[in-house]
Amino acid sequence: MQEEQEGLENHIENEKTTVFGQRRFIEGDLWGTSVVCVLAGIGKVAAAITSTQLIERFGVSELILTGVAGSADHKVYRGDVVIASELLQHDMDASPLFPKYEIPLRGKSKFQTEAKLHTLLKQAAEQFSKENQQAKVHQGLIASGDQFIHDAKVLHQLKLALPELLAVEMEGAAIAQVCHDFEIPFAVVRTISDSANDDALIDFQEFIKTVAAPYNIGILKSFFELRKLAIQA
Ligand code: ADE
Repeated sequence: MQEEQEGLENHIENEKTTVFGQRRFIEGDLWGTSVVCVLAGIGKVAAAITSTQLIERFGVSELILTGVAGSADHKVYRGDVVIASELLQHDMDASPLFPKYEIPLRGKSKFQTEAKLHTLLKQAAEQFSKENQQAKVHQGLIASGDQFIHDAKVLHQLKLALPELLAVEMEGAAIAQVCHDFEIPFAVVRTISDSANDDALIDFQEFIKTVAAPYNIGILKSFFELRKLAIQA
């Protein structure tokens, strides 16, 4: 959402904007790295279209998704950060043709993020959190589906099927599938905005404006700085 990206654009230098397919792609330099910044859109289809365009039209070599997610674990609190080690589409069910959650013709349900990218992203989130907010940083499974989960019963059912699940959102696993098919390394960082239960909508908009956007900027800044050091080493 626009609120999640608020302020990031101000840090992009040598900005060139292209509007295409109802999306605003901003090319430029972000803390010394060439980037293309765009809103993923909401939901799996929107995110798959956006990521395909980033790869095909803009030739990106790596992809990072940032934004908010609902907590799916009692140890993951609002304001914490979750780095995906793997992602799954919780609304994919082509059974009995294929096992529940399995992506047809790909032979798997979970897509791993790239190890170097997610390790660096976790370090960046930990550094940001230590210096600023003291939020806890978690790493594990994120599930995506075309559903804003705001019902404790729905979340409970999902958790029964996937006990290791840490967070739910609506885009990450779609981007994971695109990046898998095109062999593009990718990583996902999410700030927890709600508990995906009956209280999920309370203060959601306010949270993403006041917390999620500054978190995104802070974590990405640390990420690009650490990445430069890693490349130089
Ligand atoms: N993104 C943020 N919170 C969410 C939720 N509860 N369900 C799905 N996507 C989300």
